[in-house]
Amino acid sequence: MIKICSLNLLLFVTIGICKYSVYARKHEKLKEVFSWKQIGYKINGYSYRNSSDYEYKPHAVYFEEDLEERERFFIQPNNVPIGFEVYNEKIFVTVPRRRYGIPSTLNYVTRGEKSPYLKPYPDMMRSRHLFSVYRPRVDVCDRLWMVDTGHLEVPNDRRQIQPPSIVIFDLKTDTQIHKHVLDPSVLVSNRTSAGLTSITVDVDPHKCDDAYAYINDLATEGLVVYSLKEDRSWRLEHPSFRHNDAAMNFTAAGHVINWRDGLFSVALARRLGNTLAYYHPLVSTQEFAISTNKLKTGGPLDELNPALGDAGPNTQRGSHDIHSPTNIMFFANVAQAAVMCWNINTAYNGNNLQIVAQDTNRLGYISDLKVRGDDVWLLANQIPKFVYNTQNINEYNYFIMRGSVQELIAGTKCLQPI
Ligand SMILES: *[C@@H]1O[C@H](CO)[C@@H](O)[C@H](O)[C@H]1NC(C)=O
Ligand SMILES: *[C@@H]1O[C@H](CO)[C@@H](O)[C@H](O)[C@H]1NC(C)=O
Ligand SMILES: *[C@@H]1O[C@H](CO)[C@@H](O)[C@H](O)[C@H]1NC(C)=O
Repeated sequence: MIKICSLNLLLFVTIGICKYSVYARKHEKLKEVFSWKQIGYKINGYSYRNSSDYEYKPHAVYFEEDLEERERFFIQPNNVPIGFEVYNEKIFVTVPRRRYGIPSTLNYVTRGEKSPYLKPYPDMMRSRHLFSVYRPRVDVCDRLWMVDTGHLEVPNDRRQIQPPSIVIFDLKTDTQIHKHVLDPSVLVSNRTSAGLTSITVDVDPHKCDDAYAYINDLATEGLVVYSLKEDRSWRLEHPSFRHNDAAMNFTAAGHVINWRDGLFSVALARRLGNTLAYYHPLVSTQEFAISTNKLKTGGPLDELNPALGDAGPNTQRGSHDIHSPTNIMFFANVAQAAVMCWNINTAYNGNNLQIVAQDTNRLGYISDLKVRGDDVWLLANQIPKFVYNTQNINEYNYFIMRGSVQELIAGTKCLQPI
């Protein structure tokens, strides 16, 4: 970065241009769609630029009083975006309740401004039914799926506020069309619900009613399957859903990560007439795959050996997703502040994985990644800094970025099938 600066200084001799160039470097494969120092909200027409003890109501009278933290409406630095989705011009952004002072957990922004205010989805009144949402998913039937963990994750005040559930919205009408309270049998302990951090939807666009969803449980290390048609959920176990102690202690956003997160991300790919679920724990350098038929029929999975291979040190990954036309999988490589590609026609090993974008500042922790059309989208949030209280609110902390698959894979080995 210093090099880029001094080069610009020679050319333009102004500090302003130097500073600007840091954020507007050309020829980057990943481009910022949004970036925020801190999150603000626009709720019922009122813009919350800063923390606010109360929700603004026209003509209301507010009394000066010392509120407890948990009573405060909006505590700005506590609002860390963690998941996102893209639907036409709408970008959904979630803020799970890991601290007090989160006005709304499911929100959206539209393209245009660099740091837009989040708006509750579909609106403030209806957003109150949701308590805490991580990584939502849009399916091919114009629906938005999510798990509401129902769990308040404030350190020393963890509580289950409402039972964890799957919630589905119809995006054409912006209305909630279904809610399934997860079967208590899928919850191993009172820690399970907080680990239900993503949902992957398996559905044919001609059979929207016959959808399945696969939910990772990173906390108690299992997989939850849901059938929409039967409106039923069940749990599957396999050693491959569990983290690997030997893959702990990688570095992300300047912190050594000693979390023990299990199953983190599930991505679906068609292979020889079959749909495979590709998956991995966060704390692991291995990738695994199981036919979704096995997941739909309810297992047991004991007999299976789903291991595809091991890519070696510093390949720990969070979210991943596939670009179906090229069979290329993209990974949020949290251990190297990078996006990696892998052609699923090749063996899964360090040789066939390649970094396609890397940025220790902005990609410090890629929290969510999705392939939409021919673009890779990601949300990066530096969450280790938040967890370890080293976040600087005067810096850009949260980014939604986008890059074209074609540009990302140009010149990489991911283009070459065996
Ligand atoms: C609101 O935020 C701005 C910019 O961060 C800051 O300058 C201002 O002092 C804040 N106002 C209040 C009332 O906290
Ligand atoms: C979870 O259960 C443990 C004991 O099994 C208890 O100490 C803890 O308070 C419970 N936590 C919540 C969030 O209910
Ligand atoms: C990770 O760090 C902990 C604490 O320092 C240590 O006990 C453990 O052996 C380390 N594990 C690995 C795989 O490096």
